[in-house]
Amino acid sequence: MKTWARASNEKLRYDAPVVSRYYLETFGCQMNVHDSDRMGEVLRAHGWTAVDSAEDAELVVFNTCSVREKAEQKLRSEVGKLAPLKAARPDLVIAVAGCVAQQEGEKLLKRVAHIDIVVGPDNILELPKLVQEQLAGAPPRARTEFDLVETSFLSASPEAGRTPASAMVTTMKGCDERCSFCIVPYTRGPERYRPAAEIVNEVAKWVSSGAQEVLLLGQTVDSYRDESLPPPESDNPDESQFPSLLRVIAESVPGLKRLRYTSPHPRHATASLARAHAEVGILAHHIHLPVQSGSNRVLKRMIRRYTREEFVIRARRLLAAQPDMTMSTDIIVGFPGETDEDFEATLSLIREVGFTALFGFKYSPRPYTPALHLVDDVPESVKAQRLARLFETIELQGAAHLQGLIGRQEWVLFEGASKTDKNVGGLRRFQGRTLRNEIVHVQIPSEYDLTNVMALATIARANKHSLEGELEGDRMETLPRRMRTSRSLPLVRQT
Ligand code: SAH
Ligand code: F3S
Repeated sequence: MKTWARASNEKLRYDAPVVSRYYLETFGCQMNVHDSDRMGEVLRAHGWTAVDSAEDAELVVFNTCSVREKAEQKLRSEVGKLAPLKAARPDLVIAVAGCVAQQEGEKLLKRVAHIDIVVGPDNILELPKLVQEQLAGAPPRARTEFDLVETSFLSASPEAGRTPASAMVTTMKGCDERCSFCIVPYTRGPERYRPAAEIVNEVAKWVSSGAQEVLLLGQTVDSYRDESLPPPESDNPDESQFPSLLRVIAESVPGLKRLRYTSPHPRHATASLARAHAEVGILAHHIHLPVQSGSNRVLKRMIRRYTREEFVIRARRLLAAQPDMTMSTDIIVGFPGETDEDFEATLSLIREVGFTALFGFKYSPRPYTPALHLVDDVPESVKAQRLARLFETIELQGAAHLQGLIGRQEWVLFEGASKTDKNVGGLRRFQGRTLRNEIVHVQIPSEYDLTNVMALATIARANKHSLEGELEGDRMETLPRRMRTSRSLPLVRQT
């Protein structure tokens, strides 16, 4: 067990030149991927260099997720695996960031002896200083304070050669919804909105450094408010200024080719949002609109603030905004008290709305959430059966949708080499997305590089969850030649 005195003495003797290499691993959602990108920028600005393994690093950062218990367990096991490395190299600094950090704070330091730093999502800027303090022998520290008074948003610093095809831009922090199952309002704090001018500037910065698409991020991204924008269309509290934000971005940054956002809350999926989808040309023809359940009884206990019928109206209105609009969703199975009948209602909603994809989760009781007071009474085996049936249902619908695209031509924004790219036989596989968000793979001669290229592909085949496309032969010559090894897509642990 590490004691303060021992750790401190060892570290005070540390006077060799500091080699500053960090290894950063990300768990969880896109918000975490975004935060990790900013963390990397902050560290690099302080002289740190990224490496691919903990063994090669002087600093290891885990950016964590606590939305479900499984995600949290994964973090514990990954940190646990570092115990021998830390024993062999006591100067290795181990930092835990993200939602588990925010949730556990100091307790995490006590519980896991070899963690040196715990840093919450609003304290990322302090990371280099905290690490320096550790290297100088300070005791382990936790910094998990929300910036409620002077809210600031870490702005992105696009770096030459690192600009992704699709850049993430935060529009807000936190969540005021307090769905009864969700820990996010606790780990990310109350809603705070980023000024529209700052958002537009960051979008413009990404576009001028080469990004073609922007993904706006927020826990309830469509609740957005900013006094500088035209007022909401009505006094209806569901109405927000998010549709205005979308319009302002499209008008102010003409070079932007595509605009997406995640995740909207169905409450704010109003007629004015649907109108924005009909009128703003760069908006994706896809929305991820989490519904969670198709049963009114369960929706009420989840405190989702809409009924199934209201959801259907809102979803249909959005789906009607463009002829080929698609929708995906999130579903929780086995919420306390969910009966077979409730679950059947969820399956029927999936068919009724015609979702083309979904993320399905077994209900996981989380600390500090109101649903903890409800008995987690759906047995694990029933949760597993329901999840399997959920996936069967969506796979049928998703596969039929993908099959229907065969033969069509689609503009694909290629993000980089596919995860399955092996660079064999002089061919490489690249991966991109259509305007509707379907994943498309193509195989091309390895002298070409499709990273951050928007190209017209003909859909040749459909896999279970993705498409295989072909690029027109006579267009190949217009593609960039490979100057450097294409980056693979960043590694994110699915939780
Ligand atoms: N509004 C957020 C939602 C964050 S949580 C967003 O931007 O995506 C992501 C999804 O995790 C939720 O939509 C929900 O389906 C699932 N989830 C959240 N808490 C959960 C819990 N306690 N058990 C199971 N799934 C949960
Ligand atoms: Fe969680 Fe509901 Fe907010 S799912 S993030 S509390 S909208």
